[in-house]
Amino acid sequence: MSKKIQPVKKSRKMIVAGVMSGTSADGIDVALVAIPERSSLRGSNSIQLLGHAAFPYPSQVRRAVLTAMNAQSASVADLARLNSLLGELYADAVFATQKRFRVHADLVGCHGQTLYHQDEARPFLGRKINTTWQSGEAAIIAARVGAPVISDFRPTEMAAGGKGAPLVPYLDYLWFRDATTGRIVQNIGGIANLTAIPAAASPGKILAFDTGPGNMVIDALTQELFKKPFDRDGKIAASGEVLEQVLAHFLRFPFFNSKPPKTAGREEFGREFVDDFLRLCQRGRNQDVIATATALTARSIADAIRRFVLGTKSKLPKSSANRTTNPTRTSHYHEIILSGGGARNSTLVAMLAEQMSSLGIVTRFSDEFGLPSDAKEAVAFAVLAYETWHKRPSNVPSATGARRPAILGKISYA
Ligand SMILES: Nc1ncnc2c1ncn2[C@@H]1O[C@H](COP(=O)(O)OP(=O)(O)O)[C@@H](O)[C@H]1O
Ligand SMILES: [Mg+2]
Repeated sequence: MSKKIQPVKKSRKMIVAGVMSGTSADGIDVALVAIPERSSLRGSNSIQLLGHAAFPYPSQVRRAVLTAMNAQSASVADLARLNSLLGELYADAVFATQKRFRVHADLVGCHGQTLYHQDEARPFLGRKINTTWQSGEAAIIAARVGAPVISDFRPTEMAAGGKGAPLVPYLDYLWFRDATTGRIVQNIGGIANLTAIPAAASPGKILAFDTGPGNMVIDALTQELFKKPFDRDGKIAASGEVLEQVLAHFLRFPFFNSKPPKTAGREEFGREFVDDFLRLCQRGRNQDVIATATALTARSIADAIRRFVLGTKSKLPKSSANRTTNPTRTSHYHEIILSGGGARNSTLVAMLAEQMSSLGIVTRFSDEFGLPSDAKEAVAFAVLAYETWHKRPSNVPSATGARRPAILGKISYA
């Protein structure tokens, strides 16, 4: 009997573009990744980053986005127009990135621009309602790019009983989990959020939540007091002194006290918070205000880690819990891995690293692990889109509080 030789099947790769624009409203990040078609994702080695690029919003668009986010009331016509305009800008951004790296995306995952996020259900017209709203018309992106687009990840998650956030822990787990090192993955965007991954953890053991402001308060104050979009490299903060009393006052803000799961946005740390902050800083110099806002980000992250990550007895892996006499000992988390625009603010990083070293935690950067700081969230939405395309769930219920795993997002076909 002659043996039939089977041809070796070369696995095709799917090119996915991830498009992210965060609460900083600084612009659009695009990442192009290649993932073997149909592969079930087990780790970072099945995700190849082909390239990434950032596209700042034109200043009038940034202003319009910030205005819409902060508005008590807004024109419906303007919101509808903004939705289409953002769709055009996202399409342009994907186009330009494809051109730069000479590949065409088979699929796009677009987060959209969050204009409103309220994860607690509150009475509204006779019903209790929670809601999350990302703008940026996916149908326009699909038509212009010529590839299907997955969008609206958060509303699906919320409908499954979760808070709709955070969604990046899915990627954090794939990329950063380790058999022997417990890691805290800390993104510092407009809002700061962490994913705590104990050594050798299963997905159910991940803890993830928003710790509070990232750059949002620093940015708003820098714009107000220095007419600059942000405190580049933390230079202004470095020239000021922290107003300790003001810092202590704002660390008592209710959000910091509430237990995870929890999410934050402009609703908590937007205009109103910033106005209060400025009022209490009256006696300080302008650079002291920025230094104090920077310290608020660093301290609120450190406090959240101390209280909710290290202080959580149940999150200790059994073996290390047995080894130590003090259940809040920190030895099972050895590293914090920073990403997001805030990782470029040297003053913020120095303040945070000092806090971490007192907990025995070493500060590292996402870039060291092959995932550039600026690209991480865009890569995350490429990966979530890939999973959705293959009808697989990608929320992390232990992080969002969802009742069940959910396939995230909606599809717009080209
Ligand atoms: N070189 C830098 N120095 C200090 N801060 C920076 C620098 N680059 C970016 N940032 C900060 O990072 C923010 C953008 O971070 P990003 O991760 O894109 O947040 P988001 O996801 O909210 O859009 C900017 O608004 C700015 O505050
Ligand atoms: Mg951004």
